[in-house]
Amino acid sequence: MRVAAIVPAAGAGKRLKSKTPKAFVNVQGKPLLIRALRALGRGGKFHEFVVVVAKNEVASATRLLRRFRVRKFKVVPGGATRAESVWKGLQAVSKGSDWILVHDAARPLVSKDLVVGLLKAAKLTGGAICGMPIQATVKRVNLKSRIIEKTEDRAELYLAQTPQVFRKDLLIARYQKLGRSAFTGTDEAALFDGTSVNVRMVLGDSRNIKVTVPEDLALLEYLLLRGKR
Ligand code: CTP
Ligand code: MG
Repeated sequence: MRVAAIVPAAGAGKRLKSKTPKAFVNVQGKPLLIRALRALGRGGKFHEFVVVVAKNEVASATRLLRRFRVRKFKVVPGGATRAESVWKGLQAVSKGSDWILVHDAARPLVSKDLVVGLLKAAKLTGGAICGMPIQATVKRVNLKSRIIEKTEDRAELYLAQTPQVFRKDLLIARYQKLGRSAFTGTDEAALFDGTSVNVRMVLGDSRNIKVTVPEDLALLEYLLLRGKR
């Protein structure tokens, strides 16, 4: 497997309400993006890292990655949505890579075991993602009347995380088939819903949090202190 890691980092981080874009927010001395890249690097040998950032951050991100001695990276400008940013990242992947791992810059604590497990699972069917089983009780609600239609069987439901891993040709084929409608999905696995490609769900990790709102930064600091890295 020659794996390219695409790291979408082109979001504004509106919900985090910070001055700098989320991927560049420093936590205990390192930006989230650097933490995510290093965590990935511990899990596998990547052929290349394609980092997708907002157009006006390309130069500064390049300097940052050099400063933190990231190797084999490319920085490319992103799009209006996460999925469009990943598509732009895909254009920059070299011919030599035959697998794609997508991982959000906003998830700085991805573990080595998770990366290894995902690559192994993806190899079997062409695609694998990780996720957490749902602990809450989930209701399907009619949004107009606000009346509950049913209680979902939570045993069948998972909250999707990244990394998500796919054979490169399969992923490109789905983006091409779906065109612009591919840009509205919030993860890569959704591109394969209802297709013959079986995307496997690997058990995720509760430490693999996504930094979304300010409270998540406090949780991250706590997890970093507890995990000592
Ligand atoms: N992302 C991206 N391009 C976009 C939007 C998001 O590359 N146009 C990236 C983000 O940088 C992040 C990941 O996708 O690493 C997950 O998105 P999210 O957590 O929603 O981050 P933001 O979009 O930055 O945050 P918000 O939605 O609060 O603005
Ligand atoms: Mg977003």
